[in-house]
Amino acid sequence: MYLGGFKVKSIGLDTSGKMIVRGPQKAKGQIMVSGSKNSVLPIMGASLLTDEDIVLKNVPDLADVRTMIEILESAGKEVERYDDELVIKSSGILNSEIPYEPVRKMRASFNVYGPLTIRKGYAKVALPGGCSIGARPVDFHLEGLKKLGIESNIEHGFVTSSLIKPNKEINVSLPFPSVGATEHILTTACLLDGVKTTITNCAIEPEVTDLINFLNEMGARIFGSETSILKIEGVKKLKGIEYTVIPDRIEAGTYIIMGALIGQDLIVKNVTADHLHSLFSIFEKMGSPIDYDSKRREVKISALQLSTLKSISMETAPFPGFPTDLQPQMTTLLSLVSGRSTITETVFKSRFYHIDELNRMGAKIRVEDNTAIIEGVNKLSGAPVEATDLRAAAALLIAGLVAEGETVITNVDHIFRGYEKIQEKMEKIGVDLFYVK
Ligand code: UD1
Repeated sequence: MYLGGFKVKSIGLDTSGKMIVRGPQKAKGQIMVSGSKNSVLPIMGASLLTDEDIVLKNVPDLADVRTMIEILESAGKEVERYDDELVIKSSGILNSEIPYEPVRKMRASFNVYGPLTIRKGYAKVALPGGCSIGARPVDFHLEGLKKLGIESNIEHGFVTSSLIKPNKEINVSLPFPSVGATEHILTTACLLDGVKTTITNCAIEPEVTDLINFLNEMGARIFGSETSILKIEGVKKLKGIEYTVIPDRIEAGTYIIMGALIGQDLIVKNVTADHLHSLFSIFEKMGSPIDYDSKRREVKISALQLSTLKSISMETAPFPGFPTDLQPQMTTLLSLVSGRSTITETVFKSRFYHIDELNRMGAKIRVEDNTAIIEGVNKLSGAPVEATDLRAAAALLIAGLVAEGETVITNVDHIFRGYEKIQEKMEKIGVDLFYVK
């Protein structure tokens, strides 16, 4: 029974808002981590593989989730939200042409292309464009899908597909363990009835595992979860299910890093340590291990004595390596750790647009090739800065909270793509933010 629910309205993403932060501040009390954005998006896309009802729980109310709702609605689904629950139903019509606007807002929406082609024999989806964290092509997706029998033609900014009968045994080898390509290809292969697909060099991010668990509960036959080789035995039909999405490890990591700078016994709740080992081990290397309570699944953290921490050299890498989505926030922290630290970015090699902004706040960071060289300073000072993407916005917010004086972050609305109820959550832990549209 879902009495009292409401029809979800789709909204566009306008990034023009400003956030005003006066630092330094303290964060105390408890902050709860929401459901994972990067899990729920591909899971919502995979709901297109069935006409039966899908009920998703622990779904964060984020701009990106609303964009995915817009996509599902344009494909003919009816979506209702009840607090943190989404109910996805079929309207009886399945449309496989997805317009430019939602795909422009969020690349993850491109992953409906393969599933729609399998269901309808044809799809037309806008080709995602560039992105402010660096080049993000979809060549691995299209090459993998081609092996599954999906021929693609790019024209006027759209990719159009046609389906040919695939071989009974298919091997796809990814040149890089891309999260999106792994998810797209494995989801599409599930409904290739009677076909055995092997994908090698897969991404093993927890969000990929969450998607596999979801699909297997729907009746898919995917083997090799959490390993770099996945085997999928295509089935004819998948069924509707109820499924709870994992907690967001990037949101958790962001609040832990924030706690390391401004926490006063801050408790970050709903944290899965297995998903954050790389972050925990960086804190250990700096000389300040994370206090994790495995029974309560929470981290307790207070502002660290930055002058006593060890500087470090680290790199981002596919899971279980350090996530690129925590690199900007970690850069803010390291900018205040004495000595020289370095972060090499191996996933999105030019993801450094936040660095000029941090330097405007007094950080001393330079970029050489794909490495940020950080000379620790003993304070940051508030300044007008601009957020270029979601995680850059989070890094600048943390910087603004620890800096002396006023920081005004323009284009801050990126933050609403990935941090559910951020103003409310911050208020609860005693942090003041002023948001101006
Ligand atoms: C996903 C995450 C994003 C995260 C990233 C890396 C979602 C919705 N987004 O993005 O938050 O930062 O994983 O963990 O889950 N590449 C190609 N060709 C392709 C596909 C990827 O060259 O066809 C390259 C990319 O340019 C990048 C690297 O592979 O350098 C990794 O990208 P990928 O793992 O695909 O990232 P996304 O799935 O887009």
